[in-house]
Amino acid sequence: MNIYNFKETNKLILLFNSLSNNKSLSKYLLSRSKDKILSESYAIIKSPKFIYLYQKLIGRIKKEFKFDFYYQKFPSARVSQPGDNENPFHIDLWSGHGQNIINFWIPIVSLNRYNTLYTVDEINSKKLIDKHVKNDFDRNKFQKNSFKCAKPVLAKPGEVVVFSNKNIHGTINNISKSTRLSFDFRILKVGDDPGIRDINKFYECTKVKLDNKKKKLCTCYALFKKFCLAYFSCFTKKCN
Ligand SMILES: [Fe+2]
Repeated sequence: MNIYNFKETNKLILLFNSLSNNKSLSKYLLSRSKDKILSESYAIIKSPKFIYLYQKLIGRIKKEFKFDFYYQKFPSARVSQPGDNENPFHIDLWSGHGQNIINFWIPIVSLNRYNTLYTVDEINSKKLIDKHVKNDFDRNKFQKNSFKCAKPVLAKPGEVVVFSNKNIHGTINNISKSTRLSFDFRILKVGDDPGIRDINKFYECTKVKLDNKKKKLCTCYALFKKFCLAYFSCFTKKCN
């Protein structure tokens, strides 16, 4: 797991302050139902402002990772409220995602050790999977041993937590008094297996965007060339 500081995410998380009319977002989150928080968060995620800033973040990630990739069209919003139960430890391969997907997880409010995500490093994840999953799978033992190796992600709001299918992850019971709001998305290198997901429905591709840009440039160039030729032929006729 790595944590990145991309300045593009700071503007993105500021958009969520509109939920509380720029007053305390944490207080607002405590006063609303999960359904209400999620529906309002998705209205932000699907807004043109968010989409514009999200594209900028995708461009920044492409610059950092130096390869073309598919990425989720719209990130997912997640909420963990006081009293919420754990989300058992797992890797995303088990829910049908491709082997090599990479997760980007971004907290919008301050985290504590109960309302956050837990991740297991790659070496311990491999050991746990070899020990538990390749033999008779005992979910309780797997949960217990994963928790022993897991560490809470205590990133700051706007920091970008990156982990892969090589990292077991999950959450524990939220016995804190704070609600966590975060958003996340997955990316997949071009050419890698998307698992059972329909890649065209779920993902956009950085390569397509680039090709579209190239196409637009070519069209502009062709129009400019046509204009110049017409202008000069007109000019030559007048001179003759
Ligand atoms: Fe997951």
